[in-house]
Amino acid sequence: MNIRLSDDPTDISWEALAVVFHRAPLGERKPEKLREAFTRSPVRCFVWDDDRLIGAGRALTDGVTFAAVFDIVLLPEYQRKGIGSRIMEHLAAASKAPNLILHAVPGKEAFYRKLGFRKMTTAMARFSNPEKQQEQGYIE
Ligand SMILES: CC(C)(COP(=O)(O)OP(=O)(O)OC[C@H]1O[C@@H](n2cnc3c(N)ncnc32)[C@H](O)[C@@H]1OP(=O)(O)O)[C@@H](O)C(=O)NCCC(=O)NCCS
Repeated sequence: MNIRLSDDPTDISWEALAVVFHRAPLGERKPEKLREAFTRSPVRCFVWDDDRLIGAGRALTDGVTFAAVFDIVLLPEYQRKGIGSRIMEHLAAASKAPNLILHAVPGKEAFYRKLGFRKMTTAMARFSNPEKQQEQGYIE
């Protein structure tokens, strides 16, 4: 393995990133939507093994108080090797914000707990499709 983290979107195949999301799994994403979300996010991380795109993550930040982390994702064969933790540290450093918030995929809380995250007691979300989010375990 020759793992490299980069924030440069220039050589990204958004189709390849959609395959990473599909296989991880982290849902079905349209390549064009991924391109928009990642290029508009001020903080990005793409993970390469030599010339193969194997993972990613992104964050929105105000650069002084808060950053929100989204879409940390790795191909299954690269999971549980410490790479997800490296993505988080890359995003945290690049966000330049002391406070990070996120919502975990149900079942993945332990990954974030190990990185110092704690459950928020008053977190709330207004989703466009609350029934689906409730079904998936994101809201009560
Ligand atoms: C979740 C994910 C990003 C974690 O990245 P990773 O590289 O596999 O995690 P790391 O190897 O850095 O794990 C660090 C620690 O977090 C914990 N952890 C990681 N994945 C876990 C899991 N699935 N279940 C329980 N604990 C987990 C472990 O304590 C692990 O340490 P250990 O392997 O020494 O026991 C990755 O597994 C992934 O892409 N999953 C599919 C997509 C997804 O669900 N993304 C998260 C969106 S919220």
